[in-house]
Amino acid sequence: MNIITVINQKGGVGKTTLVFNLAMSAVEQGKSVLVIDLDTQGNASQILTGDIGINRIFVNGSDDLFLPEFAGINPTRTEHGVDLIHGHKGIDRIDNVKEVEELAYSGALRARIRQLPYDVVIVDTPPAIGVRHMAPLYWSDRVLIPLEPELSSVAGLQDVLAALELARPLNPGLRWMAVLNRVKKAAKSHREVSDAVRAMYGDSVVSELTDRTAVADSRQQEKPQPVWKYRGSDRKLRTLWQDFCVQIVC
Ligand SMILES: Nc1ncnc2c1ncn2[C@@H]1O[C@H](COP(=O)(O)OP(=O)(O)O)[C@@H](O)[C@H]1O
Ligand SMILES: [Mg+2]
Repeated sequence: MNIITVINQKGGVGKTTLVFNLAMSAVEQGKSVLVIDLDTQGNASQILTGDIGINRIFVNGSDDLFLPEFAGINPTRTEHGVDLIHGHKGIDRIDNVKEVEELAYSGALRARIRQLPYDVVIVDTPPAIGVRHMAPLYWSDRVLIPLEPELSSVAGLQDVLAALELARPLNPGLRWMAVLNRVKKAAKSHREVSDAVRAMYGDSVVSELTDRTAVADSRQQEKPQPVWKYRGSDRKLRTLWQDFCVQIVC
């Protein structure tokens, strides 16, 4: 099993968009795929099910994974070939609960997640610090950190890296990668910050994804599509996203 968590405590940087595209790439590669949505907004769950009301369905949500009395999962099968443990407005009931935190940071929850019967698990995380942000760092093989090329992003990246170090004693194999997203090539400030981030973190910055309306539009369709399948994407954009997702998932 390969567990990939997409994380950044900042909202709007592209986490959910990447989760959807990575999941679709894994399905195309013939893998069995589970998405775990740990965000109360449930955006990944909405995209995968086409149900904007799914974040008001309070049963079989991702909060169940964290409960001491866990009795197995009951995932939603989606028409994309991806299974989903959805996010909803009530999953924050597990935040700041002592028993949940003890379980999450003990290794027991890691064992629980890692025995789920999937080739690839992709975790979408909330834009806030807490157990739903930290716990996946204990389970994951890889962490993907999307960043916008703004100065504040560097501080945000350092915060994620500090959180990663907390998880490392229990999860020494954890690897991280950053991806610059929503890059505007014409903006001098974007070029400067991209160059600075690359100079600081070198090969850990695995790609630069440009700011393109086709990326936003592809997930807004009646049936959302990965960027490389969306008719509004040009060839260069398709190749960029497809190659990037294959590189992360395989
Ligand atoms: N490369 C991109 N180009 C254009 N729009 C993007 C890009 N990446 C993400 N977006 C858009 O930005 C918004 C926030 O993205 P989202 O993936 O929901 O972020 P997060 O999950 O981090 O809050 C969405 O409307 C999405 O369509
Ligand atoms: Mg999101």
